[in-house]
Amino acid sequence: MSDPASSNPTPSDPAASSSAAPAAAARTPQPGAPQPAGAKPAVILISSIVARGGVGTRVMTFTLERLGHRVWQVPTIFLPWHPGHGRATRIVPPDDAFAAALADLARAPWLAEVGAVISGYLGSAAQAEAVAGLVAALKAANPAALYVCDPVVGDEGGLYVPEATATAVRDVLLPIADVATPNVFELGWATGRTITTPDEAANAARALGPARVLATSAPAMMKGALATIFATPDSAYLAEHPRVEGAPNGVGDLICAMLTDALLSGAGAEAALTRAASTTYEMVVRSVKAGADELVYHAAQEAIVSPAARVQVRRLATASPRRVARPLTGG
Ligand SMILES: Nc1ncnc2c1ncn2[C@@H]1O[C@H](COP(=O)(O)OP(=O)(O)OP(=O)(O)O)[C@@H](O)[C@H]1O
Ligand SMILES: [Mg+2]
Repeated sequence: MSDPASSNPTPSDPAASSSAAPAAAARTPQPGAPQPAGAKPAVILISSIVARGGVGTRVMTFTLERLGHRVWQVPTIFLPWHPGHGRATRIVPPDDAFAAALADLARAPWLAEVGAVISGYLGSAAQAEAVAGLVAALKAANPAALYVCDPVVGDEGGLYVPEATATAVRDVLLPIADVATPNVFELGWATGRTITTPDEAANAARALGPARVLATSAPAMMKGALATIFATPDSAYLAEHPRVEGAPNGVGDLICAMLTDALLSGAGAEAALTRAASTTYEMVVRSVKAGADELVYHAAQEAIVSPAARVQVRRLATASPRRVARPLTGG
């Protein structure tokens, strides 16, 4: 394992001792058993897995585990590397097997330990229905649980998933999401709007549907800068920092994981945005400085816990508050 967070077992870590099996069995949470004191909620993470690189579940699992969450990892597709590095084999689980596995998770006796589901890149349109079923089961077990939908369907060049998959994300998943984290292309595509200013991005975020929307890579106020806008029913905040040439992929995944942790921790909108954007910006800068073609989240992992960078955040006055039918859940 190259994961430094798991490479220094403490003497009390049963996985490090030869008597691991009985100790691990004793620790297995029983249905309805209380969580360990101070434990953060588990997160079900549904997205891609690459062999080399840091996109999708790789950076998100590391980030969430580094912050103290247990992660239930559900791969939607296996790829040797990010498609941006060149063509390679794609292995997508059969739709019926994927649906069956998610149905198993939906009836898992430990569902009450889960505080959030995050969905990201999907391998097929049919996977959306399976994700929706799991979200419904989680909400039934824990009404305060969050569903965070990262509608990973495209970027500046257009859609990079089949249109049927993008449509399923828009029509099946976004309507049931508590939180969405589209990039500005995805926000424009899903709302049918043209976005050229921060206010247009904030208004589109409010029109998307979910109560809380993080719009990434949005138009900024300053030249040469990028904005990340967090719109909630009663506020909209904009974080801004310089655009860095050569940023690796995976930043959208990282910021989604950071935002989810902040919301699960009870942070308010401004604090959640500040922390998520500061960590992401610092990770971009450190990856580019290292000359890396992937995020260097292992080497720069302290930026996940306490970023040294602090992006500028301001409240947007122009975006009008809107009413939502659904109550806010989960902080
Ligand atoms: N070139 C860049 N320079 C500095 N920060 C960046 C850059 N690109 C992205 N970021 C930061 O990362 C955040 C998320 O990035 P982005 O909008 O590209 O996500 P995404 O498109 O969902 O993910 P990805 O591009 O990894 O597929 C942005 O809001 C911004 O804060
Ligand atoms: Mg992007």
